Amino acid sequence: ISLKPYNTFQIDKSAKLFVEARTPEEVIKALQIAKNNESPVFILGGGSNILLTKDVQAMVIKVTIKGIEVTDETDDHIWVKVGAGEVWHDFVLHAITNNWAGIENLSLIPGTVGASPLQNIGAYGVEIKDVFEQLSAINRHTLEEEVFTGEQCHFGYRESIFKNDLKDQYVITSVSYKLTKKPQFKVSYGAIQQTLESRGIQSGDFTIKAISDAVIAIRQSKLPDPKVIGNAGSFFKNPVLSADQFKQLQDAYPDVPGYPQTDGVKIPAAWLIEQAGWKGRTFGEIGVHKNQPLVLVNYGDGDGLAIKTLAENIQSDISSKFGINLFPEVNFI
Ligand code: EPU
Repeated sequence: ISLKPYNTFQIDKSAKLFVEARTPEEVIKALQIAKNNESPVFILGGGSNILLTKDVQAMVIKVTIKGIEVTDETDDHIWVKVGAGEVWHDFVLHAITNNWAGIENLSLIPGTVGASPLQNIGAYGVEIKDVFEQLSAINRHTLEEEVFTGEQCHFGYRESIFKNDLKDQYVITSVSYKLTKKPQFKVSYGAIQQTLESRGIQSGDFTIKAISDAVIAIRQSKLPDPKVIGNAGSFFKNPVLSADQFKQLQDAYPDVPGYPQTDGVKIPAAWLIEQAGWKGRTFGEIGVHKNQPLVLVNYGDGDGLAIKTLAENIQSDISSKFGINLFPEVNFI
């Protein structure tokens, strides 16, 4: 079966076998069958952060476990357990309708709830780790369900233990979040402030709905809709430079933006890619997006390997022009 409808890059590669798992029990059953047949397994969520470079010689298990359940509540907080197969943005909208705050800045991020802790999704000053309570996942070897706390997930910038030490060892079945009834609006990001201001919304009038609407407008204005143009969001991570490296870069390029971190200065990969002249360039069916050069795009019939080559060409160009290494955020399959 073709995986084209199941990856937001819309790459037309096929899977040897494809099954849908609607419950944790169905995940276990599928894993058992794969084990019995000695078949490799590939776990698919929303397919929004992968680049398929070849046919998948494995049993693809698409996790579609649904459900949004309130498990606990105080005057200030609400704990919600969400099935891994729920669409992330649908959950965000559900939270906003119920006045549960904490994830409004993460509006319109593609993908599923199950993938949200995997790469600690983040945008506009908020990361999933800020609202994460725990997750349940099936151990692919023992087929037992286990619980992971935030600490056990080793969250980092677009990182978790499930991308590193425990890569391919677990299937996430549900995620619990601790949301809040008394919102603390995170509007430090310039674009959010400007959008709210341009809509005449003063700081006393902020609501989580207003913030979500602003984020949606910002994202729609610069990020391509994967339903229209295939893409997987940011293709590279933003590099963190040492203070010295940053100063050198600043001497050569006084306009370079920089965001101080505990371990150095984070600079936008988008800026580097634009400076190097890649913004908006197309190569047949693929290219670098015209509004956000951190996003590589498939205009229709693009090939995964060609996108991989484009990414490598950008990496070596940035490395030779700036002496900075870019690392992909997308997972290559
Ligand atoms: N920039 C340019 N040229 C452009 C676009 C951006 O030079 O054409 C520079 C500007 O200096 C701008 C800066 O890049 O101020 C930041 O741009 P933007 O706000 O679009 O954010 P980003 O750093 O490029 C990151 C995340 C996004 C997330 C946004 C908003 C990563 C790898 N990407 O992008 O996440 O939505 O911030 O918080 O951290 C994703 O992970 O898939 C993703 C889209």
